[in-house]
Amino acid sequence: MRRTTTTKTKIRTNTRMFPATLLFIILISLSPSLSNAQRKTPLFVFGDSLYDNGMTFYGRKNMGAQDWPYGQTYFQRAVGRYSDGRVIPDFIAEYAGLPFLQPYFSPGLQDLTNGVNFASAGSCVLVELRPHTINLMRQIDYFKEMVQRLKQQVGVAEANKLLSEAVYMFNVAGNDYVNLFEKNVNKKRSLSNFKKKRRINMILGNLTVHIKTVYKLGGRKFAFQKVGPLGCLPSIKHMLSYKGACMPEPQELAKMHNTAFVALIKNLETQLPDFKYSIYDFYTSLHHRVLYGATYGFRESQTACCGSGAYNGDFTCQKKGSTFSVCSNPNDYLWFDSAHPTDRANQDFSYEFWSGGPDLVSPYNLQTLFAAN
Ligand SMILES: *[C@@H]1O[C@H](CO)[C@@H](O)[C@H](O)[C@H]1NC(C)=O
Repeated sequence: MRRTTTTKTKIRTNTRMFPATLLFIILISLSPSLSNAQRKTPLFVFGDSLYDNGMTFYGRKNMGAQDWPYGQTYFQRAVGRYSDGRVIPDFIAEYAGLPFLQPYFSPGLQDLTNGVNFASAGSCVLVELRPHTINLMRQIDYFKEMVQRLKQQVGVAEANKLLSEAVYMFNVAGNDYVNLFEKNVNKKRSLSNFKKKRRINMILGNLTVHIKTVYKLGGRKFAFQKVGPLGCLPSIKHMLSYKGACMPEPQELAKMHNTAFVALIKNLETQLPDFKYSIYDFYTSLHHRVLYGATYGFRESQTACCGSGAYNGDFTCQKKGSTFSVCSNPNDYLWFDSAHPTDRANQDFSYEFWSGGPDLVSPYNLQTLFAAN
């Protein structure tokens, strides 16, 4: 980078030979702010297994995607990602010119200036659900701790600048809704509207608190992935013995959440000066791939590559002592296991999130959000 700058400078000084210009150029070359200008926009990631790139693997003993066949397509070994290869934040980091983000619990974590990934498998927004996971509240606490470390590392002024330029990416709440169906599995009746609305309100209330916390610490640029089409998950169909592409009730709940979520974010935009955001319609994008897989190049869009039972929806992938099957070509599959897309599918989603039009990601795509001041 620095070399390119020098070459350009030479050309310019040849055309207009003012000593003052020369001195000015020398001064900016020596200025430490040059390296700041070259720094990429950092990325901080929060959420569940769709975004987990090793947090659970490093942070929780004997948990996370730690065994064959996870990671085989891209990493040739299990590296804590619930995919045969990369997850969405990996691709987004690449598009943004960043290295793969380090999970906060990575033993090698030192440089915080490119961003960090806090997302952890199984996490929920509501703290009483799944107590053994690194839920969103804990992730935000680790983020606060990281902000202190960052300030010590690069100084308060530089840290504040970095935090205000960074993008904060969230994929949350899916597990909170899956949990509601899990608890209801042996009951004959479907979930009452009261229960659904109560859960949505609690989740949105807590999300509001967490988003405001990140905002108070300097965050201005937020990116959200809508809750996916839960009724199409092989795991949900297996759990609720549903035969068909997508089960209506979980679909409706996900849609209710997404509608309320968009309204919440629009409201936050009016309350918080300089709050900018992207919302990616992951729901529609994944739903369409389940329904019309072949159109998107997926030979199999309902049965997972790895698992057992109907649609390979029994989450036995990697489990010792279980019998599960693994497909030979994950690239033909939309789902790698009962709840997580393949590397190939994640690449599609990431590309849409990064550069998609307003029908897929709005009001800005990530490319625009990263570039925004
Ligand atoms: C956050 O969730 C808890 C349950 O975990 C709930 O009791 C509380 O009311 C929620 N907070 C807000 C602000 O909605």
